[in-house]
Amino acid sequence: MLVLGIETSCDETGVALYDSQKGLLAHQLYSQESLHARFGGVVPELASRDHIRKLLPMVDSTVKDAGVRARDIEGVAYTAGPGLFGALLTGASVGQSLALAWGVPATAVHHLEAHLLAVMLEEETPVFPFVALLVSGGHTMLMQVSGVGDYRILGQTLDDAVGEAFDKTAKLLGLGYPGGPSLERLASQGSATFEFPKPMTDRPGLDFSFSGLKTCAVNSLEANKGDGDVADIAYAFQDAAIKTLKIKCRRAIQQTGVKSLVVAGGVSANQALRKALNDLATDEGLKVYYPRFDFCTDNGAMVAYAGCIRLLAGENQSGAFSARARWAIDSLVAID
Ligand code: KG4
Ligand code: ZN
Repeated sequence: MLVLGIETSCDETGVALYDSQKGLLAHQLYSQESLHARFGGVVPELASRDHIRKLLPMVDSTVKDAGVRARDIEGVAYTAGPGLFGALLTGASVGQSLALAWGVPATAVHHLEAHLLAVMLEEETPVFPFVALLVSGGHTMLMQVSGVGDYRILGQTLDDAVGEAFDKTAKLLGLGYPGGPSLERLASQGSATFEFPKPMTDRPGLDFSFSGLKTCAVNSLEANKGDGDVADIAYAFQDAAIKTLKIKCRRAIQQTGVKSLVVAGGVSANQALRKALNDLATDEGLKVYYPRFDFCTDNGAMVAYAGCIRLLAGENQSGAFSARARWAIDSLVAID
């Protein structure tokens, strides 16, 4: 089955064509980074307008890149949530309209399910069940994944997502938007001068809290005005965030007895996090899986893949126009 995937949940326009027989045929990504940079964060209305401008031309050129014809497309998958409502609406309208025009089924994809399944586009893929650490700009969760749609949340953040904490701390340290990659770069020049607490690791459970770490960063900045090295603060923040994630992953693995760990979402692009989790894998005899670097952050390929699985299972929401800013991942229907 040849499926068109559309991602517009935030500030990236992603389009891809995935074929269940041949794999990923083509994908394109347009980042609105420069549009939002001067505002220090995503401006929802500007994001929606830009998705509208980019989406259809990108569908055309992705079809060309894949060497297929539009009439060969057998299904359309679009991100329906969670995300920015206006931005989601653009993908939902275009996706539903194309499906209607082509007379093919459409499916509303859950953005986090797409992140979680992005790893299935790699050569070596995990088998169910696995533990998933989902670390993005909007979410931080540990889940036991027993199949597509069969998700048990083991723990999640009570306040900021880890990506959000990277972004906010980066802003406080005077770095640009988006903050994650620039904070990682700065941290790589720093050293272990300060030690920040590892939130919620001193009590049992798998929930997270990351909002306090940015306060630690502000306090260190104030206390060391002029003579402190900002890179050391970036290092301390990243180190505490990563150690916290590692401790909770170890607990989740021990609690479930599952020996595969999948890491997904924007923060899974972080090299220091990958190093820490690879060390955990060695310690605990685990296998750990990551999406390729380009598919850690938002993209159309993961949406095309997740949608293809659901369309192949017979789902069809053609005509049932939907976009949801909030959407619980454990409310999804499991596929046999
Ligand atoms: O998955 P994603 O593209 O969007 C959401 O679904 O939220 O994740 C974006 C988040 C941002 O907060 C960004 O700062 C963070 O992922 N991120 C990183 C890195 N690359 C992206 N955080 C830490 N280190 C990175 N290298
Ligand atoms: Zn995302």
